[in-house]
Amino acid sequence: MGNCFGCPDAAAADEKPTSPSKGTTKQKAVSGETGRGGGGGRQEYRKWPSTGSGGGETGRVLDVPRLRVFTLAELRAVTRGFKPEMVLGEGGFGMVYKGWADERTLNPAKSSAGVVVAVKKLNPESVQGLHEWQSEVNFLGRLVHPNLVKLLGYCREERELLLVYEFMPKGSLENHLFRRGAFEPLSWSLRLKIAIGAARGLAFLHSSERQIIYRDFKASNILLDVDYTPKLSDFGLAKNGPVAGRSHVTTRVIGTYGYAAPEYVATGHLYVKSDVYCFGVVLLELLTGLRAHDLNRPSHQQNLVEWARPYIAGGRKLTGLMDQRLAGDYPPKAAARAAKLADRCLCGDPKSRPSMDDVVVALQEIESMGTARPAAKLPPRAPVAHRSPHRNPSKLR
Ligand SMILES: Nc1ncnc2c1ncn2[C@@H]1O[C@H](COP(=O)(O)OP(=O)(O)OP(=O)(O)O)[C@@H](O)[C@H]1O
Ligand SMILES: [Mg+2]
Repeated sequence: MGNCFGCPDAAAADEKPTSPSKGTTKQKAVSGETGRGGGGGRQEYRKWPSTGSGGGETGRVLDVPRLRVFTLAELRAVTRGFKPEMVLGEGGFGMVYKGWADERTLNPAKSSAGVVVAVKKLNPESVQGLHEWQSEVNFLGRLVHPNLVKLLGYCREERELLLVYEFMPKGSLENHLFRRGAFEPLSWSLRLKIAIGAARGLAFLHSSERQIIYRDFKASNILLDVDYTPKLSDFGLAKNGPVAGRSHVTTRVIGTYGYAAPEYVATGHLYVKSDVYCFGVVLLELLTGLRAHDLNRPSHQQNLVEWARPYIAGGRKLTGLMDQRLAGDYPPKAAARAAKLADRCLCGDPKSRPSMDDVVVALQEIESMGTARPAAKLPPRAPVAHRSPHRNPSKLR
């Protein structure tokens, strides 16, 4: 869920202070079709039946979470005893396991008879786990939208806290963008599909009656369905938007290096448009194939936004910045439009950033510009001194 990069004086009146739970740097396990075990052997994937339905394209917010309450024994059976082979990945909250449940009752099922689910189990050392677990249940448990991961149920027993989700077979966008070797490069059209879907998910949150600020928009929280439909996961840091004509909520500063909006980091003032800034960072990652923050790059390039903004603002040549894994297979004009859009999202003044609805429209226009490969020869690669294929070691929580 979220990664703390410090909690300055802007500490929140509206949020219990909690210590960082991911104090160490670590390499996460890989999930997805080519990722770690997840039950051993290739399993026929059956899509979760209710995914994307019920809410339609626009989504809806339920009055109360409608979730299955699991016992620990049931989830032990679902995940085959939380076996290491069932691990899909690991985040700040804890391990994520693959399992099987009956489609209708969600009772534990044999693999051949059930649908695949993902079970997130709190690491007992996670200090902020309870707060994040409650947010996940209260926010995600009430939200239905094709671009939000479906929370199916939860378990709270003894000191164990677990969450059960629909399984996302292609794993996280982070893995596809940054784990070279393990995953095929994403094409231009898939990158746009992912950007548009993720933008729709955020636009839905921002347009709900009581706006919801997601606060943790980053590549690892965008999970991909079998057809690369993106879905936002991890609502542990989500917050209700401002009320009574206010522009922002004041809260403890928590997030991930490289993604959080400058006004939020500096003051603890969180705007709906702070999410738009995070979106701009991810759009930049999609264009460049570079992590938002990477200590393996030379110091002036470690923060992607600081380094890349002169290029995307149009002052310098964009071609050298584009992800080499695209092999030049994208329409340059569309890429330039996307870079301009990222630049607008990254505006220092939150008010000057576009709304997520505007972002969706702009991305759809960019998509309509086609995917044709230009006949021109490929450009030389950008001045990136070192590209780490691994998880960013600078990530803190
Ligand atoms: N519903 C799911 N279906 C398939 N894989 C999942 C699912 N949820 C999580 N995973 C896998 O488990 C990994 C860990 O997810 P988790 O959300 O706990 O951490 P994270 O988002 O990577 O990091 P952070 O804690 O910083 O948010 C993800 O990268 C993903 O690969
Ligand atoms: Mg996550």
